[in-house]
Amino acid sequence: HQVNHKEVHDLLVEVALAAGDMIVAAQPHIAAVGTKQNSADLVTETDQAVEQYVITIIKGKYPEFDFLGEETYTTGKKLTDKPTFICDPIDGTVNFVHTFPNVCISLALAVYKKPVVGVVYNPYTTHLYSAIKGQGSFLTMPIRSRSTAPIEPCSHRTGRNWDVKYETFAKLAGGREQGGKMVHSLRSMGSAALNFCAVAAGQIDVYWEGGCWAWDVAAGWLILTEAGGIVVDANPGNWSPTLDGRRCMAVRAAPTGQREIVEEFWSVIPEGGYDYS
Ligand code: IPD
Repeated sequence: HQVNHKEVHDLLVEVALAAGDMIVAAQPHIAAVGTKQNSADLVTETDQAVEQYVITIIKGKYPEFDFLGEETYTTGKKLTDKPTFICDPIDGTVNFVHTFPNVCISLALAVYKKPVVGVVYNPYTTHLYSAIKGQGSFLTMPIRSRSTAPIEPCSHRTGRNWDVKYETFAKLAGGREQGGKMVHSLRSMGSAALNFCAVAAGQIDVYWEGGCWAWDVAAGWLILTEAGGIVVDANPGNWSPTLDGRRCMAVRAAPTGQREIVEEFWSVIPEGGYDYS
């Protein structure tokens, strides 16, 4: 597939900025919010309007590419080897509805099921993260791996979902008081894409979540790995998860100690792991 990554990147940045204006201009009302899978899986008119806008612009420019978006996804649709735009119009919909400003649009292009361009934009903070395969990750300047010693105090953040066993990870934090593992604290911030970017930027060291969809993670995945971080399976054992596997753990961007951090996390997961299907 001949794809000009830089051209796609520039388009996705342009689309993300315009979509960000739509998000900020919208006034979500909790009463007008719909649900999808369960009462915590929210969708607003803005999620849908932003996705329609994204489709119009990028399908206009790249009509031959596939599109996988959170709001237009239908059960059974699979990521293929074809160049595919992957879109989460609002990652952090619960935050958006509650006016907690940790919200972003996440846009990626995947080829052969691997992200090659990723853009994550939080319109409230105006932080724009982006990456092109092989060319590093950028915030307003190149972001790099944070190189800290593996066992020194570090902050662990986990995403918390309705099917995430939070107490398991609280053990890591609790261990501090018991003279065990040194963890500053846990966070649950409500946007998978922004969590990946925070790990990429060295603001936090680990992000763990099971149950994410490709649109939650595709862009952040590339931004993280281009910054020197790694993504492994949320359950123990698999060091090379796939984008559409719905299980991921983003590990701090320090090459030294990455393995130890992963194994430390995996060690508190119950035998057999969790079922994220
Ligand atoms: C959700 C957020 C949340 C994560 C969920 C995602 P959405 O995305 O990223 O942090 O816990 O797994 O589905 O629904 O706001 O686009």
